[in-house]
Amino acid sequence: MQVLKIRENARNVEEISWQIARAKKMVVVTGAGISTSSGIPDFRSKGGLYEMIKDKFPNEKVTGQQLFDKSYLNNEKIRKMFYTFMGELYSLTTAAVPTMAHRFFKRLADQKKIIHYYTQNIDNLEAAVNLDAVQLHGTMSEVYCDMCKLTVQFTEMHAEVFKKGFPPQCNECQQREATRQASGKRKHRIGDLQPNITLYNDIDDTTRGAYIQNCVKNDLRKKIDYLLIAGTSLKVHGVKNLIRQLAKSVHHNGGKVVLVNLSGVGKEWNTVFDYQILADVDEWAGLVEEHTGLDKTQKVLTGLANKTSKSVNVSISKGCVKRRRKDRDQDRENAGSNNDNNKKKALKRSKVEVLDVVETLQ
Ligand code: OAD
Repeated sequence: MQVLKIRENARNVEEISWQIARAKKMVVVTGAGISTSSGIPDFRSKGGLYEMIKDKFPNEKVTGQQLFDKSYLNNEKIRKMFYTFMGELYSLTTAAVPTMAHRFFKRLADQKKIIHYYTQNIDNLEAAVNLDAVQLHGTMSEVYCDMCKLTVQFTEMHAEVFKKGFPPQCNECQQREATRQASGKRKHRIGDLQPNITLYNDIDDTTRGAYIQNCVKNDLRKKIDYLLIAGTSLKVHGVKNLIRQLAKSVHHNGGKVVLVNLSGVGKEWNTVFDYQILADVDEWAGLVEEHTGLDKTQKVLTGLANKTSKSVNVSISKGCVKRRRKDRDQDRENAGSNNDNNKKKALKRSKVEVLDVVETLQ
């Protein structure tokens, strides 16, 4: 594995941009790092969600990770903390706007390069750019009833109840119960609405796991030629397995595996990744677009992609590059002001590690 930095290794980084432009069957896996510039902190970095949980509940002996473990939710105090955090996280995610990185992946998808885009993120920012995502850990945009299993949209009204430390009750169950009681039938429990996210030790969460498994099977059949991973510390067991499997297949097909992340990952990944680019993912995405004209039409891209990087530099007019820079700066400006607004909201929350839904893949 080669570790690269945008400035020090500019030529290699540009070569990777061209590999991406040439790739036809990519798979992308993203994590919290692609959303940080929208104002949603990641989990494990300094100042991240896990640290914020500790600050918010200094007297509680619960870690951020445990707060997202279903088995800990039997404890009333922890359950209250969890729901409060969910309510606050909802407000944070609804205030956030997609980042430069989200738009970049959307452009790759529009150019039919991506077979599957997997994300560990629950912020659902992909939906805001119409990017189809396989949500490995579920989404904060829905709640489901733990009784009748009905799934409905997560709304501000639900969030307000969660913020008080309780789950909202299921309307469907309430109506069904009213009918039952009117006809003199015995009482049933009314279900609680839960955020539609994957928790550790949530043994009921099999539907999502099966769907993910299908997607991966499909990828392995389709001879994927590029694997791009961005903004993740690669700490979740199921995701590690997913990446190892996909990487093996990409290498078998003669393709490359690239990680773009601010911080480095351990030696265990040396044989999995071909390159690790240590960079801000937005900055890197902007650079790929500058190098290759990826934000231009497919026709132009296809033409340019077959040229060498040297000739391409000549081919792209300065006007185009300037325009792309302007767009990127605008994206950053938007993200920046959103960032400030979100910080002002002084969100304090907790968050927990995820169940390994793809663990069964091994
Ligand atoms: P982490 O917080 O563990 O890792 C985020 C990674 O992104 C870190 O390595 C950062 O260095 C990097 N990063 C942050 N900002 C970046 C930027 N602007 N550009 C590039 N890299 C950046 O988050 P995940 O790996 O996504 O589960 O965490 C995986 C899962 O653990 C989450 O999905 C979550 C948590 O339990 C659930 O929400 C259910």
